[in-house]
Amino acid sequence: MSVSATAVAHPNIALIKYWGKRDEAMQLPATGSLSLTLGIAPTTTTVTLSDDPKVAADLGTLNGEEMRGKDLARVQKFLDLVRERAGSQAYAQVDSVNEIPTGAGLASSASGFAALTLAAAKAFGLDYSKAELSALARRGSGSASRSIFGGLVEWLPGHDDASSHAVELDNPGLELSLVVAVLSPGRKKIDSRAAMRQTVATSPFFSAWVEQVPRDIEEMKAAIAAADFTAVGSLAEANAMRMHATMLGALPPVRYWNSDSVAALDLVASLREEGTECYATMDAGPNVKVICRSGDAEAIACRFRSEFDGIDVLVSGSGPGAYLM
Ligand code: DP6
Repeated sequence: MSVSATAVAHPNIALIKYWGKRDEAMQLPATGSLSLTLGIAPTTTTVTLSDDPKVAADLGTLNGEEMRGKDLARVQKFLDLVRERAGSQAYAQVDSVNEIPTGAGLASSASGFAALTLAAAKAFGLDYSKAELSALARRGSGSASRSIFGGLVEWLPGHDDASSHAVELDNPGLELSLVVAVLSPGRKKIDSRAAMRQTVATSPFFSAWVEQVPRDIEEMKAAIAAADFTAVGSLAEANAMRMHATMLGALPPVRYWNSDSVAALDLVASLREEGTECYATMDAGPNVKVICRSGDAEAIACRFRSEFDGIDVLVSGSGPGAYLM
């Protein structure tokens, strides 16, 4: 009988962003980062070890379609590492279902590699702690290290393969929600990995970013400990704008925003002026995520639906860490 394991992981959205690596091969980030794991749009992944000697490669499906090209190569490379750790020769079948548009800057690689990490570790018999699972997930995709944990999470940048992993933060009283305005569900033109590389290599603003982020993280942790929503939201928005500023400084410039993104940022500012306190963040795509108090989330979502015809608007509170089924 073939060995199989299924795991579920949720996306996370960074309040202090990860942008740039100091070691590409080891996936060590240039700075730490801090995120909220969402309670919606999970990835469910089943890893089945093949007992057929004729199978000579890992294969997979994503949302029922055969994985190929870059996506498959990334999964195979990750499974090579798992095999090496487990001392195994077995190839695997990876079947993954994403409840969020893949590749649209909605953190599908975070939930995807977190679910794959947990399912593969179980199927290959690796008895890992959560910190070890997080460090392993990092090797697949940096932000996946954070989706191993639930709620508010900090990724400690570390200095080697073992020390670069996420930890869960105490949340003494913030009821945070995110409203995700899916302005454009298509796959982004330049993936975050390539865009990061371009920023690190060419943006004159990148060194300022690396200097600023540790300060942002300390300030964010103090704001969380004080349950100060205004400080959390305004700092998250400022940090996201700074990340995009470093990309705009790259050569050629990386610009994920479209005109709807700008209109959505304007709407967030208007809502704030009208007395609904909320803040915007954006990742490697044109979509805008609104950080708000949970009690205001539905009203904000309604406003987005009425201002942007026909778009999907998702609402999420804090969600759980990755788990096995
Ligand atoms: C903008 O984790 O997708 O979402 O490590 O190369 O796989 P790789 O990158 P990835 O980058 C996420 C970047 C971001 C910011 C963040 O989530 O912190």
